[in-house]
Amino acid sequence: MDNIPNHVAIILDGNGRWATKRGLKRSMGHKAGFENLVKLSKYIYKKGVKILSVFAFSTENFKRDKEEVDYLMDLLVKKFKELIDNVPEVKIVFSGRKDGLRDDVVNTIKEIEDITKNNDKGLLNICFNYGGKSDIVDATKNIVNDVLEGKININDINENNYINYLYNSIPDIDLLIRTSGEERISNFMLFQSAYAEMYFPSVLFPDFKNKDFDEALTVYSNRNRRFGGNNKK
Ligand code: IPE
Ligand code: IPE
Ligand code: MG
Repeated sequence: MDNIPNHVAIILDGNGRWATKRGLKRSMGHKAGFENLVKLSKYIYKKGVKILSVFAFSTENFKRDKEEVDYLMDLLVKKFKELIDNVPEVKIVFSGRKDGLRDDVVNTIKEIEDITKNNDKGLLNICFNYGGKSDIVDATKNIVNDVLEGKININDINENNYINYLYNSIPDIDLLIRTSGEERISNFMLFQSAYAEMYFPSVLFPDFKNKDFDEALTVYSNRNRRFGGNNKK
């Protein structure tokens, strides 16, 4: 298929409902979701996508029960290296605030970023303790610092180079998928979703398989992206 999106972002939603439907603890849904992500990410790069961003834990998710939050943190520490084994040539970065995360979580993040830093066959951006508003707020603070230190002139900041101040300088999203039927952004990558094509399949994330991703690509290829210009299709 031509017209493969350069940057796909997925809001991994529905893990809890997947588990509850089966009479399992919500944590088991996160386990199933993680296992699905391991397989699906490999397929997504195989299809030619260069950048994959995933929303794995929002700043707001700290409102959940301690048991569930602890499980998600443990999952990162104990299992995330499986992702590296699965997409060995992909560079993995984490976007989000490190404040408020356990030391072992922060260390694991550093380790994963370090192991994969020279990889160049794709980029996996994991949004963890991430908020779209905090991304923009933190970028703004960094800009103010650079201006005050004379490193940059305020008039040189524009819509294109602003991303250099966002976490990991991640560019615009082409295709944004949110599983589980919810049709909202929930504070995901606000700046980079300015012109993203949105797709909201009802399937819960642990059940979102390769064929569902193919369907998303088909929908995307039939969209008419105008970016404010004339309808050329
Ligand atoms: C998404 O699944 C994963 C995280 C937010 C960590 P949910 O846990 O939000 O699943 P639902 O929405 O309750 O089904
Ligand atoms: C968004 O899902 C965050 C992640 C998928 C990590 P939520 O399940 O937390 O979002 P709301 O609460 O339904 O908006
Ligand atoms: Mg949810």
